[in-house]
Amino acid sequence: MKHIFNKGTNPEAPTLLLLHGTGGTEHDLLGLAELISPESNVLSVRGNVLENGMPRFFRRLAEGVFDEQDLILRTAELNDFIDEAAAEHGFDRDNVVAVGYSNGANIAGSLLFHYEHSLKGAILHHPMVPRRGIDVPAMNGLPVFIGAGKNDPICPAAETEELSTILEGAGADVEIHWENYGHQLTRSEVDKAGDWFKRRF
Ligand code: MLT
Repeated sequence: MKHIFNKGTNPEAPTLLLLHGTGGTEHDLLGLAELISPESNVLSVRGNVLENGMPRFFRRLAEGVFDEQDLILRTAELNDFIDEAAAEHGFDRDNVVAVGYSNGANIAGSLLFHYEHSLKGAILHHPMVPRRGIDVPAMNGLPVFIGAGKNDPICPAAETEELSTILEGAGADVEIHWENYGHQLTRSEVDKAGDWFKRRF
């Protein structure tokens, strides 16, 4: 997958896996990594799907309606890619924390829903429930930060709560930070994610 890898100064710090929103690129979230954990390795990936020229991590049938088969396939592809990138760039595959926004948060959630130990933790900005009606793997104590908008038209507050309930049901340790700026990723939300990261890692 097209990506940027920046080697960090602290080999013990988790590698941050950056996953952009629809229409973004691997450059978009580099600033977030600086704010969250400047010492970390950064693996920033571009989604392989194009929707009217806009990169995404998986196909959708309509706004908020995911192409489930493609989601499953693309989640496997991303999980394999992280394995390959760890071997190529020499980082610890078992110490990867995802930072995703919107579509990127949704594929990060899908990694957690499909692959045990795929992530050490996750910062999910404005995520949705990636799939329903499946058994999710155990996430014993896995730290998850969710940044959400009370008035997010793409991800309603009830869906945020639903996602949190599913993750907690699998044993994840979830913290939700609420904002009132719709689907926007705000600086204050990123700062909260950074504070959370410093407490957890
Ligand atoms: C998605 O398709 O993943 C969500 O609707 C978020 C978005 O990308 O707009």
